[in-house]
Amino acid sequence: VLEEVQREWLDFAGTGMSLIELSHRSATYERVHDDALRRMRTVSEAPDDFEIVFIQGGATLQFSMVPLNLLAAETSAGYVVSGSWGRRAYTDAKAHGQAYAAWDGAKDGYTRMPWPDEVSIRDGTRYLHITTNETIEGIRMPYLPEVEVPMVADVSSDYLARRLPWDRFDLVYGGVQKNLGPAGLAVVFVRQQILDNSRSDLGSFLRYQWHAAGRSLAHTPAMFSIYVMAKVLRLIEEQGGVSGLEAASTAKAGLIYEVIDKSDGFYSSPVERAHRSHMNVVWRMPSVELEADFLAAAEKQKLIGLRGHRSIGGCRASLYAGMGMDSVETLAEFMEDFARQTTV
Ligand SMILES: Cc1ncc(COP(=O)(O)O)c(C=O)c1O
Repeated sequence: VLEEVQREWLDFAGTGMSLIELSHRSATYERVHDDALRRMRTVSEAPDDFEIVFIQGGATLQFSMVPLNLLAAETSAGYVVSGSWGRRAYTDAKAHGQAYAAWDGAKDGYTRMPWPDEVSIRDGTRYLHITTNETIEGIRMPYLPEVEVPMVADVSSDYLARRLPWDRFDLVYGGVQKNLGPAGLAVVFVRQQILDNSRSDLGSFLRYQWHAAGRSLAHTPAMFSIYVMAKVLRLIEEQGGVSGLEAASTAKAGLIYEVIDKSDGFYSSPVERAHRSHMNVVWRMPSVELEADFLAAAEKQKLIGLRGHRSIGGCRASLYAGMGMDSVETLAEFMEDFARQTTV
């Protein structure tokens, strides 16, 4: 995709201009835009009663837009506080309406997701918000909570890498920058019924209905991000769609977990086994000094970005869609070598 973008950079589709110089109202850009929408519909397998909207501002803006659009004065929202991102979504929702923690993993140090029957819903709940993959803590929700209310999911860090039972959701959103393309864009799947009953007392940009009615062209969209994403979607389609991405992620993560599990405790995963992330593999080592040595030695081998998030430390390998199996094999071999050399 990057090479294709490079080839097209100075002369997009024979226009003599770069894509970022085009008007978003030009027929040339509209073709790109429509192609992105169409591919997203096909790959996601989202039913027709979901509208797909492209919104600038990443997933963080959605932390506010979701309660602003879905919550009325007399309703509340339950939040599964499963880690750093679930907590951020919950905190922002409380700024806009009534939100409560339907489950909080703090007592277990955010090392697991709730078991399906642990989530408690209160009367008058409009939706339950979940984070399908907690990027920082490296935990994944392998199944969905058993609740009667519609769900809203932040899927930022496993976007299109898991099948979704669409009938359980009213809204699904995520920033695209992990699995799907450059930062600057969130893709939101929103049920038509929400658009039909949308609030009119919000500024245009904050209303899903406004974005949907304008086919995400009501203002200048994140054209470059959408253009690159369409190419990534084509690649995902060619590689078997969601099932292909899911299988590839499971295999890549499986390789690193195998190294961890066979290391006699040299590497250790703090995460409940059934809830281990397929996208972000986190691990600890016997001391922080050894972790620092590991990261320095890895960097010398051009294995970069393995430091755990600054809020929790340790190590983390993020294995998003752009990360090939060959790179993961290189990392696995490096981890085995490092453990061998350090323990003899
Ligand atoms: C699960 C999850 N939600 C939300 C966010 C915030 O997304 P953004 O940076 O697009 O606002 C992130 C970013 O890493 C994330 O991983």
